Amino acid sequence: MQVVHSKAEVLAWLQSVRAGNGTLGLVPTMGALHAGHMSLVAASVAENTHTVMSLFVNPAQFGPEEDLDNYPSDLEGDCRKAEAAGVDLVYAGTVDELYPTGYATYVIQEQLTDGLCGTDRPIHFRGMLTIVLKLFNIVRPDIAYFGQKDAQQAAVVTRMARDLDIGVTICVLPIVREPDGLAMSSRNAYLSPAERAAAAVLYQALQEAEAAVAGGMRSAGEITRRVRGRIESEPLAEVDYVELVDCDEISPLAELTGRGLLAVAARFGKARLIDNIVLRTP
Ligand code: PAF
Repeated sequence: MQVVHSKAEVLAWLQSVRAGNGTLGLVPTMGALHAGHMSLVAASVAENTHTVMSLFVNPAQFGPEEDLDNYPSDLEGDCRKAEAAGVDLVYAGTVDELYPTGYATYVIQEQLTDGLCGTDRPIHFRGMLTIVLKLFNIVRPDIAYFGQKDAQQAAVVTRMARDLDIGVTICVLPIVREPDGLAMSSRNAYLSPAERAAAAVLYQALQEAEAAVAGGMRSAGEITRRVRGRIESEPLAEVDYVELVDCDEISPLAELTGRGLLAVAARFGKARLIDNIVLRTP
């Protein structure tokens, strides 16, 4: 496995491996790798001739009050995990090269980015889409892998790939959970032991909603009130949002008919955690 830091080195590597047939998978990450990331790598390694993993904490997707400066990072440990999992190239780009002085171009997507995390994090999706498009242009993958934990991100990237005719297949893989149901996230590292125990309430609340739907509940208001109440019963949790939205449009639903994305965000101390479940009517 090679580890490179510049666009020119990525290009040189691409030229060396692109000569034959085969496909290239990209797993974009901000590092601090956990089992969720590694499930994306496993899929890419299984489905492609070569796999590139990007490790880059993208300043453009963090608001001024957010955790950019404290975001966990472990380049050496991440490279060890990537190599053991069969990654061929790690691209750990630099801020100076990816956002040079005078940088002025961003990707803005309408509608899908208005609600959920877009409400509290107004510049997040603009920054995220910009770096993802830059990575697609630098690495030129056939398939790019994203996790369902960031369901809005996955929908937004899928729409960008379609709208801008990017020619990359977006593959979205299931959430990987801890034994108590907490979704794997690099931000779980911020949790104190008490907050870590409390955070299990997110998935418990989502599962209770799924049971309520199986029992006949359909009103978005009733479903989200129930989930909010369950999360708020945990004193260390502070709810940001609980919403039932269309899985592809990320627009609010009044009633569950067919499929709906039940998405939550809540703070536990310094950590803002998100989770979701796709609800289906029988
Ligand atoms: O999901 C993430 O880790 C980031 O948003 C991504 C897709 C790597 C872009 O910085």
